[in-house]
Amino acid sequence: MTTPHNHAKPGDYAEAVLLPGDPLRAKWIAETFFEDARQVNSVRNCLGFTGKWKGRPVSVQASGMGQPSLSIYVHELINVYGAKTLIRVGTCGGLNAKVKVRDVVLALGATTDSAIVRGRFGPYNFAPIADFGLLRAAADKADAKGLKFHAGNMLSSDIFYHADGFEGYGQLPDHGVIGVEMEAAALYTLAARFDVRALTICTMTDCLITQEEISAEDRQTSLTDMVELALDVAVEA
Ligand code: HPA
Repeated sequence: MTTPHNHAKPGDYAEAVLLPGDPLRAKWIAETFFEDARQVNSVRNCLGFTGKWKGRPVSVQASGMGQPSLSIYVHELINVYGAKTLIRVGTCGGLNAKVKVRDVVLALGATTDSAIVRGRFGPYNFAPIADFGLLRAAADKADAKGLKFHAGNMLSSDIFYHADGFEGYGQLPDHGVIGVEMEAAALYTLAARFDVRALTICTMTDCLITQEEISAEDRQTSLTDMVELALDVAVEA
């Protein structure tokens, strides 16, 4: 069986899948890090690849931007292709001055403005959270590699261009929400629903308080560090 969004066959994906938003980043990850990389999906140019990292099977599938897009790919990866470990690798904006550009943010939890989570739980404010084993492994490995990281609450927003700028994030920065991206809450909610493991690892690329942005050169180094960390967690944790 294939799906409207993915023409890979069951068995084409490894149980561990990295999820960058950008299809060209998925291609870059496969070409740069995988041994024996082969492309398994190209529907809508939302590219997916399977290969090996340190001799163990691993896949990468672009999620597209935002929670609706990620939800489609992740739902199918879990339910059609048997994915058990899903690790988003992305970038986030900074909402706290202690998080510096280039720092890694491990999304312990993901607060959201999205109806995709709110709609399911009636009177309850469900708290989407990372898998503890993956999170612990990522923190230990980041320490071992000397990577500066923060584990905290991420905002997964449906809005990139907030009409009210930083003010639009309201009380969240004052309640320990340290970064903003657009996918983690939906990933964690789907993982909880289908009893699989998920983690979101982001590099902070643009601080919404100071307006500082990552340089092109630092972007490449930071992405490399983050992807190697995610791949180690994917195949070893
Ligand atoms: N908002 C949402 N997602 C992001 C941002 C941002 O400011 N920066 C990087 N990803």
